[in-house]
Amino acid sequence: MKSPTCILVGIYILIGQAAAVGVVGTAPGFAASTTGGGSATPQYPADIAELTTWLTDSTARVIVLNKEYNFIGSEGTVTETGCRPASNTCPDDGGQDAINHADWCTNGNAGTGSTSISVTYDAAGVTPINLGSNKSIIGIGSSGVIKGKGLRIANGAENVIIQNIHITDLNPQYIWGGDAITVAGSDLVWVDHCKISLIGRQMFVAGTTASNRVTISNTEFDGVTSWSATCDGHHYWTIYLTGSNDLVTMKGNYIHHTSGRGPKVGSNTLLHAVNNEWYAVSGHAFDVNAGAYVVAEGNVFQNVVTPLLEKVGSLFASPSTSANTACAAYLGHNCQLNAFGSSGTFVGTDTDFFSDFSGKTVATASTASSSIAAAAGVGLI
Ligand SMILES: *[C@@H]1O[C@H](CO)[C@@H](O)[C@H](O)[C@H]1NC(C)=O
Repeated sequence: MKSPTCILVGIYILIGQAAAVGVVGTAPGFAASTTGGGSATPQYPADIAELTTWLTDSTARVIVLNKEYNFIGSEGTVTETGCRPASNTCPDDGGQDAINHADWCTNGNAGTGSTSISVTYDAAGVTPINLGSNKSIIGIGSSGVIKGKGLRIANGAENVIIQNIHITDLNPQYIWGGDAITVAGSDLVWVDHCKISLIGRQMFVAGTTASNRVTISNTEFDGVTSWSATCDGHHYWTIYLTGSNDLVTMKGNYIHHTSGRGPKVGSNTLLHAVNNEWYAVSGHAFDVNAGAYVVAEGNVFQNVVTPLLEKVGSLFASPSTSANTACAAYLGHNCQLNAFGSSGTFVGTDTDFFSDFSGKTVATASTASSSIAAAAGVGLI
């Protein structure tokens, strides 16, 4: 017979666990009304099969990860012909080779002088899990890890929260080895307090169909890699926002040791980049392509060689205290100055798109602060 004390302790632990598990906070900015799995009972998937089932079905779920879910090897490996792109000028010193995805190796994208090579990669990494609607995926402490597979919210799936999860190890040695988080044809996606590391291709991509309201907050984009497309230990393929009707808030993110596309913005995307920190970026942070409408304020650029690669679209880079008052009528606050340390220039004075913010939920802005990095990533909420 169990003693009453044991039973009481057992009940206490159960109650304590249930009370502690749930999404923390709400999304700053455009995706503010995302509810994910709402008040569904938290569930702990036993293994990668159950995790996949729960993520893909059409039931509203709160899915809690308190361990690593390792997909590597679960779908076998593929050996085929890929290429060593011309960009890989350091093959014996950590360059990044490529899988011939969508004929990338053979249609000219690999560059003059690229050569065919045999590539062997993990099959699970190149095909993400296609989520259903109304899901919250939450990690406990820093234990919630998805290894070797990405997440994709697409084709009408919507209302998804991914919080406090580390996604890692998607064939990092290969361009086209996998994307960590993909949004394409969706609405209301909130990625918060996640960490993304060691990815073959994009750490985050909003694809060509309309993704509507997206918030990426307090997330660490860790570009440290032994397979750099720029031959310097920094990951090139960071954040690509190319949706056809997208409203993206990036707030409180820490983007470090990257070399490109952080973010590349285009098509028809309104981006509010506020209070993020870029650190040790050996190439570019922003690439503002045609169709991009970007307000960048209150950010920190520390050791960023090229904060802005090109400005074809529209950019308001919060140039001066007096100019920043133009934000108030549309964003609800005067824009905050960006801060720069040992970084290149970041110039943009466009304001004619500010009315696009009207009627939207716009993130607040604080003074640019060097404490952003310490508050981003997993294990902090
Ligand atoms: C998601 O939740 C909303 C609100 O409860 C509901 O209207 C919708 O049908 C759900 N979507 C799916 C695919 O279950």
